[in-house]
Amino acid sequence: MYKLVSILILTTVYQSFVLSDSSLPSVCPDIISKKRWDARTALEVDYVIIPIDNVVVHHTVTSSCDYEDDCASLLRNIQNFHMEELEFHDIGYNFMVGGDGRIYEGAGWHKVGAHTRGYNTRSLGLAFIGNFTTQLPSKKQLQCAKDFLKCGVVLGELSKEYKLFAARQVSSTASPGLKLYRELQNWPHFTSRPPPK
Ligand SMILES: *[C@@H]1O[C@H](CO)[C@@H](O)[C@H](O)[C@H]1NC(C)=O
Repeated sequence: MYKLVSILILTTVYQSFVLSDSSLPSVCPDIISKKRWDARTALEVDYVIIPIDNVVVHHTVTSSCDYEDDCASLLRNIQNFHMEELEFHDIGYNFMVGGDGRIYEGAGWHKVGAHTRGYNTRSLGLAFIGNFTTQLPSKKQLQCAKDFLKCGVVLGELSKEYKLFAARQVSSTASPGLKLYRELQNWPHFTSRPPPK
């Protein structure tokens, strides 16, 4: 009996270990859920058709953050601003990248965000937390974003030929900051000719 119970326990532990390992492709970075960063619930949710063809990159024009608590607190402020001042239904971006090298869930996968007028229903809005006018995101922040985009393709959320561009290429904003914009130009999938509005 003792033996049977311990075998059962070991099997369960083994399964949950293996499942948590294999349920997401290994390239996928940790995603901090909205629940975990204590986000408000979206007032309304609209869905996009996947795979999505475009990724629009932004920065939050806030301070940077190196720890989950700091990133979470910045994001709660941003979400409040988006929902109260801008009257969005949720934080506008689909996902955010923290200086701690982790992805934070915003509006999320296959949802319509509110980040780039004219593109929201056919793009994923990815925002780097910080202000990247004169400095680059941290190495791990950049790597995390790259891994996340690869992950999106593997999950079937992003088209294999998705186009990556900066918000400033399609709207009157400096986002995601000149320094980060220059960096993005060397990334796979970057396009100097985003699809028209
Ligand atoms: C972002 O950084 C630039 C360069 O350091 C600075 O001039 C600008 O005021 C910053 N923006 C905000 C909103 O803090």
